[in-house]
Amino acid sequence: MYIGIDLGTSSVKMILTDSDQNIIATASSGLTVQSPKDGYSEQNPKEWVNATMECFESLKSQKPMEFCETISIGISGHMHGATLVDKNGEVIRPCILWNDTRSHEECIEFENQGIDVRSISGNITMPGFTAPKINWIKKHESENFSKIFKVLLPKDYLRFYLTGEYFSEMSDASGTLWLDIKKREWSENLLSCSFLEVKHMPKLVEGNEEAGILKNKFKEKFNFKNNVTIVGGAGDNAAAAAGMGITEQNQSFISLGTSGVFFTPTQNFLSNTGDAVHSFCHCLPNKWHLMSVMLSASNCLDWVCSITNTSISEALTNVEKYFSDTNDLSNSSFFLPYLSGERTPHNDPYIRGSFHSMKTTTNATNLQYAVIEGISFGILDGVNSILKVNNNFEKIFMVGGGSKSKFWIELLASLLNRKLSVCEQSEFGAALGVARLAMYVDKNIDTKENIIKEINVSKSFNPNEDKIDLLLKRYNIWRDIYSSNKKIASNLLA
Ligand code: XUL
Repeated sequence: MYIGIDLGTSSVKMILTDSDQNIIATASSGLTVQSPKDGYSEQNPKEWVNATMECFESLKSQKPMEFCETISIGISGHMHGATLVDKNGEVIRPCILWNDTRSHEECIEFENQGIDVRSISGNITMPGFTAPKINWIKKHESENFSKIFKVLLPKDYLRFYLTGEYFSEMSDASGTLWLDIKKREWSENLLSCSFLEVKHMPKLVEGNEEAGILKNKFKEKFNFKNNVTIVGGAGDNAAAAAGMGITEQNQSFISLGTSGVFFTPTQNFLSNTGDAVHSFCHCLPNKWHLMSVMLSASNCLDWVCSITNTSISEALTNVEKYFSDTNDLSNSSFFLPYLSGERTPHNDPYIRGSFHSMKTTTNATNLQYAVIEGISFGILDGVNSILKVNNNFEKIFMVGGGSKSKFWIELLASLLNRKLSVCEQSEFGAALGVARLAMYVDKNIDTKENIIKEINVSKSFNPNEDKIDLLLKRYNIWRDIYSSNKKIASNLLA
């Protein structure tokens, strides 16, 4: 038996799998995000621990016999969060999350210290990444900075809590900006741009290597029979890729979760910093990947539904009808889905969300459509940015909450003019990915080659030929709206 833990932004999800990779029990427990100011996004690591304990209890109560036979655990987590611990292993301040944009000035400072940040890290310095968050803390909370013993990513803090050991792995470490992506090791030069040293970092392993043993107190508390090994695991996107079996460059996925992601593996280190493409290590040795990231994807839909007092399922039904009934969508409003700035392709911490071309006839359904369409346009921006450096992908899988909507996937398939596939159980994709990584340390499995395999497709969606031209025409107008808004965006912020 293997456990996969996925520390997501809005919940911890956990699965128990058997050696045939059947998911035999699942659990989840919600988390909250604090936003004390515009652009701030924080989480209390205590919530991660409590939610994880709740999920362990739930799996145990569902399958007590099987649960106790657990051999190894993999952990996936939302990336980039700065979790600071002092020399006693105590958390110094709330974790600053991946979608926090407060450190935009520090990004410039980080890159202006005479080190070639972009070629070593493969990435532009963006406020979401861990490094500039530490520069912000040094400037604004010097006392907290001086207490730093280790800087941990969210899932690596959870591992530390469970094992007492400081480890990270390549895929998540890539999102710190302190990793030499090509060499797969911490870069002293990059760390020096945040006034840190290698000693402040956890040890690095690959995602499928051993990275700690569950503490005795948890072994006893949960009645595990074995000394349970924890593997390196992965950042949430690499974990989702492992869960779907996406390790080759002809494969890719789109995730419509809180963030919107397009992900495709590469066999070598490649980068496109010009379009703010993320260039990271994959969670398996000698593999890398490219990724576009939108900061606000399905949470724009949550937002518009809450202010229009509509449930998401009701909104999707109404919008689907609107999309199919209206011969002329050309009159629809537009929405820029940048509620907290944007990464790919703009790297723009100042831009915010906005509706355009509102009419006296615009109603709630029109706004909801504009939001779904705007998020989809953002995904196309990401795909186009990656196409500039890698056009090898053929298969595109869909994951994340948004992939449950048939209508939305059809819209995306038409906009991208490509076939899109939905996988079975994609909701637990990241947890399955790290449960698979956990299988690598099981000495009873002789051949490890077949652990990561392509997941079954439950349904495929083809482009709707009638909609392609119209959507592309609207996409070009939408891009112009961003270009005009970009000029005034920073003046609009207090
Ligand atoms: C990736 C990113 C997000 C988070 C949260 O760079 O910031 O996808 O990992 O899911």
